[in-house]
Amino acid sequence: MSSNDLAGAPLLAAEDISASYSSYRALFGVSLEVPEGSALALLGSNGAGKSTLARVLTGLLAPTAGTVRIAGTDVTGWPAWRISRLGVAHVPEGRGIFASLSVEENLALSFRRRVGARSVAAALDRAYDAFPVLAERRRQQAGTLSGGQQRMLSLGKVLAAPPRLLVADELSLGLAPVVVDSVYDSLASIRAAGTSLLVVEQHMDRALALADRAVVLAKGAVVWEGESAGASEAMRRVIASAGTNERSER
Ligand SMILES: Nc1ncnc2c1ncn2[C@@H]1O[C@H](COP(=O)(O)OP(=O)(O)OP(=O)(O)O)[C@@H](O)[C@H]1O
Ligand SMILES: [Mg+2]
Repeated sequence: MSSNDLAGAPLLAAEDISASYSSYRALFGVSLEVPEGSALALLGSNGAGKSTLARVLTGLLAPTAGTVRIAGTDVTGWPAWRISRLGVAHVPEGRGIFASLSVEENLALSFRRRVGARSVAAALDRAYDAFPVLAERRRQQAGTLSGGQQRMLSLGKVLAAPPRLLVADELSLGLAPVVVDSVYDSLASIRAAGTSLLVVEQHMDRALALADRAVVLAKGAVVWEGESAGASEAMRRVIASAGTNERSER
């Protein structure tokens, strides 16, 4: 807890969030909470609105309605850099790296911003420990890394200097199974060290093994929420009823 926290407020609370891309409405009144120290899995089919919600929560997209609070502070409409100062990190879908900078420049830039110049060297060591391939390729231009290596770079930026809340969108996309294992090991250990998690993941079993609770989105709205143990069954029902729940019904 930081001294500005409102006593008893969850680390992340989103209330009644709606969001649009020009005239297309992608979210309809979505609410969720991530209590400090917990992990929430955000599930749903392709196009359900998971990445859109992740963007709203981290300030990349302003909602058209609703409120986002971090530890009680209303951050609705704040720019992403200002939300990140509160200890919120977003690993976006895709890669989120600077293609023309080297691997090490990418890492150092992110660490300097988050943990300060003096701790950059230690964070670099941790990133290279977690992903040895990044150490081998530290001078290579990030844009010329393979797809999986770029993904490891975007993870190294976050995992080596854990934030207070990590919003992770499809962390394991494009990674070999053995790397996925080590990514999930890292997530479990940053969680054990106190980072709260909101995990969007196609490998549902991975996300649910890590999470306490889950929220299932369909067509931009919450259709189920509960303990992660019941989530696979809920997802099967959502997939089975896909197509019968047309947007025009709203
Ligand atoms: N920049 C954009 N402009 C217009 N529509 C968009 C934009 N980004 C997303 N959408 C649309 O909003 C809806 C929700 O997209 P979103 O990316 O949030 O889904 P998702 O749940 O993350 O899906 P996936 O599992 O495929 O990543 C989709 O219908 C998508 O086509
Ligand atoms: Mg997505």
